[in-house]
Amino acid sequence: MKQNIAILCSGGDVSGMNPALKRFVEYSLQNNLVPYFVNEGYEGLIDNNIKKADYCHVANIINRGGTKIGSARSKRFMHKEYRAIAKHNLDKLHITMLVVMGGDGSFKGLHKFYQEHKIRFCGIPSTIDNDISGTEYCLGVDTALNMIKFTIDSIRDTAYSFKRTFIIETMGNKCGYLALVSHITSGSELCLIPEIEYNLNDYEQKFRHEIQNGRRYFIVIAAEGIKQDSAEIAQWFEEKIGIESRVNVLGHLQRGGNPTVKDRLMAYKFITYAIDGLLQGKDESIICYTEEGFDYKTIDTVVNTPYQLDNELIKFISS
Ligand code: F6P
Repeated sequence: MKQNIAILCSGGDVSGMNPALKRFVEYSLQNNLVPYFVNEGYEGLIDNNIKKADYCHVANIINRGGTKIGSARSKRFMHKEYRAIAKHNLDKLHITMLVVMGGDGSFKGLHKFYQEHKIRFCGIPSTIDNDISGTEYCLGVDTALNMIKFTIDSIRDTAYSFKRTFIIETMGNKCGYLALVSHITSGSELCLIPEIEYNLNDYEQKFRHEIQNGRRYFIVIAAEGIKQDSAEIAQWFEEKIGIESRVNVLGHLQRGGNPTVKDRLMAYKFITYAIDGLLQGKDESIICYTEEGFDYKTIDTVVNTPYQLDNELIKFISS
């Protein structure tokens, strides 16, 4: 008898989820499995919003951001009684394997689900925050970084014309990865992230000197998790450096848009490893990607190890 396998997206959506859904359906069918979509994340597991999927459901989505099957941050899934309902719904459809695309919070829920019901699953790190322990890459990060790069390049044009400072606020929750990589790759003058203590006054003399020497504008990248509001930073530039300043909160545009080639390829590989792993009996793993390649780590290790921002990147910013 054929085995049934389901997939769901949980937490903040990322560009790359749709290419992953396409590969999921196609590779499941190729392996003689019956693929199912769980709509609206863990909410759909609880509400039995689970539908059989076929080739026709994944046509025309590889180029689209977001996720065709919806995502959610489920409060109900945090409670044991709802996780029991979710398991019951999977059993009713004889679904024995589950693939979950999500971030840290989603994996914590999955961990509890596993401890209580021993479901066979594989997790695919998917969050633009890139803050999951054990993996250097989470699906969606490259598209988000490219969105940020595109925006900073545009803002730079007007910053130059008007001799202004722009504070560009990036997402990332408590993690400075998006801000830091954007700083390095966009050549901004200042980058502020939660992982590094700072005092704006330390930059006053340097920035004033640069203005005197003809600098026309400053680009500041501020991660959303830092202690100060972007408006306060803009005010500091106006008062202390004497330059007109504006704030741009990039917000959710970082989460959407046409997935980059890297995210389409990573989606393809993550799904392939997920299904291969499940078929080989790796029943409770998260697929992690490092310089050495893909690896299956236990969910226990991933959720119980605090995430640390790459030290090499931190050194670049401090030097
Ligand atoms: O998905 C991650 C993330 O975009 C974080 O960077 C951000 O802090 C949060 O989600 C925003 O959440 P919401 O979409 O619920 O406002």
